[in-house]
Amino acid sequence: MCGIVGYCGRRAAAPILLAGLKKLEYRGYDSAGVAVLNGTAFAVVRRAGRVSGLDGAASLMGNAGIGHTRWATHGAPSERNAHPHVWGDYAVVHNGIVENEHALKAECLARGEEFLSETDSEIVAHLLAREAGDPLVALRNVCARLEGSYALAVLCARTPGTVYCARRGSPLIVGRGKDGLYAASDAPAIATEAEELYALRDGEFAVLAGEEARIFNGELAAVSGDRIVCAAADDAPALDGFNHYMRKEMSEIPAVFARSLTDFAENSEFCKVLCQTEYIQIAACGTAYHSGLCAKFAIERFCRIPAETYIASEYRYLDPIVKENTLFLAVSQSGETADTLAAARLAAERGAVVVAVTNVAYSSLTRIARFTLLTQAGREIAVAATKSFNAQLALLYSLTAALARQRGRLAADPSALAPILSDALARSEETRAWTPFFAGARGAYFIGRGADHAVALEGSLKLKEVSYLPGEGYPAGELKHGTLALIDDKTPVVALAFSERLAEKTMNAVREVAARGAKVFLITCFEELCARKGVFRSLLLPPCEEAYSPAVSVLPLQALAYYVALARGNDPDKPRHLAKSVTVE
Ligand code: G6P
Repeated sequence: MCGIVGYCGRRAAAPILLAGLKKLEYRGYDSAGVAVLNGTAFAVVRRAGRVSGLDGAASLMGNAGIGHTRWATHGAPSERNAHPHVWGDYAVVHNGIVENEHALKAECLARGEEFLSETDSEIVAHLLAREAGDPLVALRNVCARLEGSYALAVLCARTPGTVYCARRGSPLIVGRGKDGLYAASDAPAIATEAEELYALRDGEFAVLAGEEARIFNGELAAVSGDRIVCAAADDAPALDGFNHYMRKEMSEIPAVFARSLTDFAENSEFCKVLCQTEYIQIAACGTAYHSGLCAKFAIERFCRIPAETYIASEYRYLDPIVKENTLFLAVSQSGETADTLAAARLAAERGAVVVAVTNVAYSSLTRIARFTLLTQAGREIAVAATKSFNAQLALLYSLTAALARQRGRLAADPSALAPILSDALARSEETRAWTPFFAGARGAYFIGRGADHAVALEGSLKLKEVSYLPGEGYPAGELKHGTLALIDDKTPVVALAFSERLAEKTMNAVREVAARGAKVFLITCFEELCARKGVFRSLLLPPCEEAYSPAVSVLPLQALAYYVALARGNDPDKPRHLAKSVTVE
């Protein structure tokens, strides 16, 4: 989380920093700031709120600067906690968490130093200010004392025209353009300006000065950078008539799903690995975790290979058992989620074949993985993931079908889903009429069995993210073991029924919650269920292969969350407290 931009060169730094920060707001948008070095003096503007609120920053004079858009970890989103943090000769922006904050801070306080913010990041400026000599050596020495993760961009008042960078755990890209040198948390922020882009590897440093972005390893020996390719991107792609990116991105789902279906060439190295696979582990966070859960059902159903899906932040501390011939799927839209990266590293260490399922070709995850499978979602701007979920499903279902083929088993063809998605998307608009029953509710339940339960979890996450209403996804059969006590006439219940085998079982739960006063909103592909007693409203979607149905059944849940968010006056594209890319633990 948090977005970093750095620039030095022939042009005024401030407008470049601000333009870059706007493109990075998906990483955090609770406060922002820039520092520009004019001669040997820092000019700093910081504010709570979004980058657009940095009044006066655009006119700061100076050709070297650093900027930051924040997602608060330590201390409230306020002006004093906003980066850059200045101490002595140094100004610092930081993405990550300094885990030995308390010990280092105590040391500074004992020296009589005062802290101007509640952040862990300010410590870096304090420690740097204590080091005499070359700022690169100072940065290396300070980084050696930091526990946790960081991407850092640093200015030193003694070295005008220079930006220093360091990376461990949090991404940082440096680049060279015709007008100067650039640094950023993510390549699109600088890709319009910088023609050559390099991703710093963990433990590397960079010095941007003069005509050159020089990269150094931990011993400060110059190394050649890890060159990446990233197309230039607008900070605000056209909304094409939609009011929000979330809605626009939902409309792209049929095309994105079709694009992300993948044919795995027989006899490829990857298919040979599939042939040997005996176990599958999937780890991911948030929405990507739910696509992993959906994939587990399809894989076990068609391939009869044991598949387990883990929340990545749990996997990394589980001491996981990785058996021989385990395929580990790390699913991440951004490819930068810290917990997913850590889980993938651990799985690789334990001998699994790690496969990145990601939307970003140059992301950190692809560097850990032995194989990369790219989803074709295109850039997703809205913080709440929608089209990337369906893109992941298309890819994971394609993988399922390939795996089944390798084993001589029959699997349904996921491409059969593509033509029905447009119809399902159009029908999902009907959920708009449901919003009055949700907008004022105390919370909502989403119930289902099997893959329907995985979708219920995603539906409740969507609702929480953008409407700020409590939502819970629950296995339909488990309600009666306690949670039923929470159901009354103020708790709308969304029930999903896409499995022929399990639909009647889910309808038992529908009757039980309806008997306790709940209004049940049924989403199903079985017409006869819509008229059942206890169903308050229903939405009929086109029939589809049960194991792949999440790609269809999630559509009305995404739409419902969007419309409830609007009804409650929320910005669905930038929900409070959240960030799209979570690069801290
Ligand atoms: C954040 C986002 C979620 C996303 C999750 C995982 O929490 O707000 O929408 O699902 O990270 O992101 P990833 O990039 O790893 O898929």
